[in-house]
Parts: sequence; C-alpha cells; structure tokens
Amino acid sequence: MDEKKLRFAVVGVGGIGAGHVGAVIASPYAELAAVCDILGDRALDKYEERGFVPIRHIPMFTDYYELLDSGLADAVIISSPDATHCPYTVAALRRGIDVMCEKPLTVTDEESALIMETVRKTGRKAFAGQICRFDAAFIKAKELLDSGAAGEVFCIESMYRHGCHKDLPKDDWRFFPPRHATACGGCHAIDIVRFLLGSDPDRVFAFGNRKCRTDWSVEDCSETVMHFPDDTIGRVFTTLGVIADYSMETVIYGTKGSIFTNYVADSVKLRTESGTEVFPVKGVTHNAVGEVDAMCRAILYGEPASHEIIEGAKTLLVCNAAIRSMKSGMPEKPEYELLG
Ligand SMILES: NC(=O)c1ccc[n+]([C@@H]2O[C@H](COP(=O)([O-])OP(=O)(O)OC[C@H]3O[C@@H](n4cnc5c(N)ncnc54)[C@H](O)[C@@H]3O)[C@@H](O)[C@H]2O)c1
Repeated sequence: MDEKKLRFAVVGVGGIGAGHVGAVIASPYAELAAVCDILGDRALDKYEERGFVPIRHIPMFTDYYELLDSGLADAVIISSPDATHCPYTVAALRRGIDVMCEKPLTVTDEESALIMETVRKTGRKAFAGQICRFDAAFIKAKELLDSGAAGEVFCIESMYRHGCHKDLPKDDWRFFPPRHATACGGCHAIDIVRFLLGSDPDRVFAFGNRKCRTDWSVEDCSETVMHFPDDTIGRVFTTLGVIADYSMETVIYGTKGSIFTNYVADSVKLRTESGTEVFPVKGVTHNAVGEVDAMCRAILYGEPASHEIIEGAKTLLVCNAAIRSMKSGMPEKPEYELLG
C-alpha cells in the first residue's frame, strides 16, 4: 500500500461517474474526498439503486465551484455532461487541481485548445477518459503490433457498435448540443486506432447517415477513413442506433499477419502464414481502476500515462474533422496546430 494518497472528487455521479467512484475507492493511490452532482442526494439515490457501495458519509456538493474552493480535492474526475468538460477542466486547473476529464474531451476544437493552453500555463497534470487504452485486449494487441509480429501495418479497422441512447427524454443533456455519433461513441474507436499506431492522421474523410435514431438532429452512423503520414489507413465504423450486441471489434492488418481483437475480449488472435496463435487476456468492463491508478502514478511518481489529456484533445480533433467532412464531402485536416 502506498503512503501517499491523492484526494479525489468525482463530478457527475451518473452512469460512468459511479464507476469512477468505485475506481477511486479501489485504487491504492487515491481516496474519495468529495462528490459533486447538480442532483445532490437524488443522484446518490440513483447511485444506490444500482447497488454501489454507499457514500453518504462523503461530502456532497451541488455547486462545482464550491467544491473546487473547498480545498478538499487534489484532483477531480469530470464525468458530468459534455458541455461542462471544458469550463470544469479549466476552472480546476486554474485552482491548482489536477484533472481527468471524460471523453469526448470537449465539444469544439477551440475548447480543446483552451484546455491545452491552460495545462501549459498552470503546469498541472491532466488526463482524458479514453478508457479503452486500459483494456487488456487492446494493450496486448499493441504489444504484438509493436513487437513486429504482424510486420508493417498497412491498415487498421475498428468499430464502435452500440445500441444505446434509446428512449431518451426530449430534455436529456445528450441533445444539448446534439451529440454526434462520431464524437460521443466513435471517439473510442478513433482513439484506439491512434493508440495502436502511436500516430496522428493527417487527413480524414467520412460519410454519415441518420436512419436509426430519427429523433436526433445529427448522424447516428458514420464511416470514417483516416490517412496516416506513413500511408497507413485507418477505418472506423460507428453506429449508436443499431440492434446488435455492443462491439469494438478491431483488426490490425500487417505485411506478415493480422491481429484480431475486441473490447473486453478474452483473447487476442495473431494470424500469420504459420497459423493462428491465441493470446489469452483478462478483460474487465471499463477498466476505471487502471485509468485512475495510471493517473495517480503519473502525478505522484512522474510515470508516463497513455491517457495524457493531449490524446483526448487530438482524438476529438480527428472526430470533428470527420464531422466536417460529412458536411463538405471532402477530406478534412484535423487542426492540430490549434493545440499549440
Ligand atoms: N469513458 C466511457 O466509456 C464513458 C461512458 C459513458 C459516459 N461517458 C462520458 O461521461 C459523461 C457523463 O455520461 P453519463 O453517461 O455518465 O451521463 P449520466 O447522465 O448518466 O450522468 C451525468 C451525471 O452528471 C450530473 N450532472 C449534470 N449536469 C451537471 C453539472 N453541471 N455539474 C455536475 N453534475 C452534473 C447528472 O445529474 C448526472 O448524475 C459524458 O461526457 C459521457 O460522454 C464516458
């Protein structure tokens, strides 16, 4: 057990926030110092209905800025709606508080630029909730890819297939601003392609349509093609309205073999001319503990973390370039220069 523990506040104790609460409680590097949710006790009622460990004894704030000024938190995990991500991240950093902010990091590229500028000015540590980077199957796939087992990679395809967001009330936060499938769910698959390749696409082309979630005002399905500087191609299919099991099936195609994997898969397969090798892995759904532990080790001991906030910012730029491409009908460039 480590002696030094970071005092965390979790902001937004909803769907994913409850998982962050559990991760902070489970982490040997962290302690839960406060929670914040505009619904206050009503958020805790819902949290408890889902069977999570009771946290009524933990200070609860309904006003985020009062939480920041309370001095209770060394770090915050922002798991409130997308539109809060930029103002909440910037406010915490400016008060000397480290941050992990959920994906999509922001709504606009300009907001990502403001966050990166604030990180530079304050010197604080900040991370993005790109949780798939902590999935055992994707880590194993990257290890195989980096070892050269598949030869030179020429294409990676990934999908984000989720039949979520059904029957949302008309005033749900997901409609304000309307969440584009490519940014809100597709960002996981786009981020995994970037993570696996360790590189940033220079051009992005995408098509989209909206046939399943007709109550939305934006596309619920998209196909995004990315060109990387070494000519590797990335393909990401995203659908949020589909009637099918959740999947993030991902295939890495190399000159010597192909690597097959999926989110929370129990194995990764490498197919070469000699046959198929199977590598068992131990997957857990949403490895929030791995994500919090990595954040803490980066803050406390200066260890590298794969979810530095710049990664969330770049992934969002790629998503937004894809969304622009759907409108322009032309390839678009992610505006990395905005990030400084
Ligand atoms: N990493 C992942 O896999 C993953 C999965 C789901 C959601 N998310 C992200 O987490 C965020 C929340 O999504 P969710 O599905 O948990 O939503 P949710 O609606 O289930 O929970 C959001 C919570 O935030 C609270 N809230 C709303 N406005 C607030 C404010 N201004 N200040 C403080 N609290 C506020 C709500 O009362 C609610 O309890 C989104 O940005 C989403 O993209 C990430």
